[in-house]
Amino acid sequence: MRAVGVVPGKREVQLIEHPVPQMSGAYDVKIRALDVGICGTDKEICTFVYGSPPDGSDYLVLGHESLGQVMEVGAGVSILKPGDLVVPSVRRPCVHPHCKPCQADLQDFCSTGDFSERGIKMNHGYMTEFYVEQEKYLNLVPTELRDVAVLVEPLTVAEKAFAQVWKIQERLPWIVSTDPVKSPGAGLRAVVLGAGPVGILGAMALLANGFEVFVYSRSEAPNPKSELLESIGATYISSKTTSVTELAEKVGNIDLVYEALGVSSVAFEVLEVLGTNGIFVYTGIPAPGPAIGVNADAIMRNVVLKNQVVVGTVNADRAAFQGAIRDLGTFLFRWPDQLKAMISGRFKIESYRDLLLGERSGIKNVISLD
Ligand SMILES: NC(=O)c1ccc[n+]([C@@H]2O[C@H](COP(=O)([O-])OP(=O)(O)OC[C@H]3O[C@@H](n4cnc5c(N)ncnc54)[C@H](OP(=O)(O)O)[C@@H]3O)[C@@H](O)[C@H]2O)c1
Ligand SMILES: [Zn+2]
Ligand SMILES: [Zn+2]
Repeated sequence: MRAVGVVPGKREVQLIEHPVPQMSGAYDVKIRALDVGICGTDKEICTFVYGSPPDGSDYLVLGHESLGQVMEVGAGVSILKPGDLVVPSVRRPCVHPHCKPCQADLQDFCSTGDFSERGIKMNHGYMTEFYVEQEKYLNLVPTELRDVAVLVEPLTVAEKAFAQVWKIQERLPWIVSTDPVKSPGAGLRAVVLGAGPVGILGAMALLANGFEVFVYSRSEAPNPKSELLESIGATYISSKTTSVTELAEKVGNIDLVYEALGVSSVAFEVLEVLGTNGIFVYTGIPAPGPAIGVNADAIMRNVVLKNQVVVGTVNADRAAFQGAIRDLGTFLFRWPDQLKAMISGRFKIESYRDLLLGERSGIKNVISLD
């Protein structure tokens, strides 16, 4: 069957003839790929900065943002059945018995670094016609989400981040209410850095949680991303026309920053204007570059004197996937046109070179195998 993969030994990105995977265990599920999202990670793997094939293979099948349909289930599978829509998670645990996170099914916190990731690290991905996965790594998706569920995986970044934010901000009991009716962000102001898919989905999650949301990103408005964000109630501010100091004056006390750009110079400048009792979440992964100057004294004084928290987050656990599926349903109900507009194009698998190596624009491009 067809698959898109990288061959690091030859530094090539290819359409590969990959064997159809066979079910081998009672808990296995065979899945037909429907949609695969393409993101910056896939493009970086195609430049060979990272990404590694499984042991014994000279290629790695790409793709970690998947929506699939169950074809066949093993005898031990209890919930899933043929026809169900599923989104698989990405990271698989390391084999070390002393790794407490992996032993606790929280491999997103793996302490040894020997985890694998489908489509990224030592494990084939989902940019292929069929794949086999264990039921415990699959998340059932309601059929109403068919057209947008490829966005579940990128939304899990925000889900894991905000689960931690709510826990940390329990130190401020007057804002994180135990009242289920009161939104945790009511009366608070959040700045999202970057208007890519991670930033836009983060902005949607923050709006749904009651925050006033400002998105600070590069391109001047109006542009398709700024228009989408303004139409759901966020304020879009371009870094081309507004400095970080002006951004801070406009927003007032910045209670939360959700960084989704991967540009350290901008991120550290914004850290300098984080508000009192504020929390700064880093999600971006900058390419290694030369050291940059930062206003370290001001940042350290603020972190201490303003009770600030800086937290990084990577990958996601099962709870984050389930939260993303639930929240995507909320977004679809509140902003159906805008959520669908996030998927800028659906393409056949043969377009892989243009999508992975070209300059194709848009928000989220998807390979459809349906
Ligand atoms: N932690 C995790 O688990 C995780 C998971 C997935 C991704 N990530 C990381 O999250 C980050 C965002 O991902 P994405 O897919 O949304 O990326 P993306 O599509 O590349 O979006 C980045 C956004 O940042 C803006 N930007 C770039 N340089 C800027 C600058 N100097 N000043 C202001 N804005 C700037 C871009 O503006 P334009 O619109 O003008 O281009 C774009 O809107 C990446 O670093 C990615 O590696 C992390
Ligand atoms: Zn991705
Ligand atoms: Zn581990």
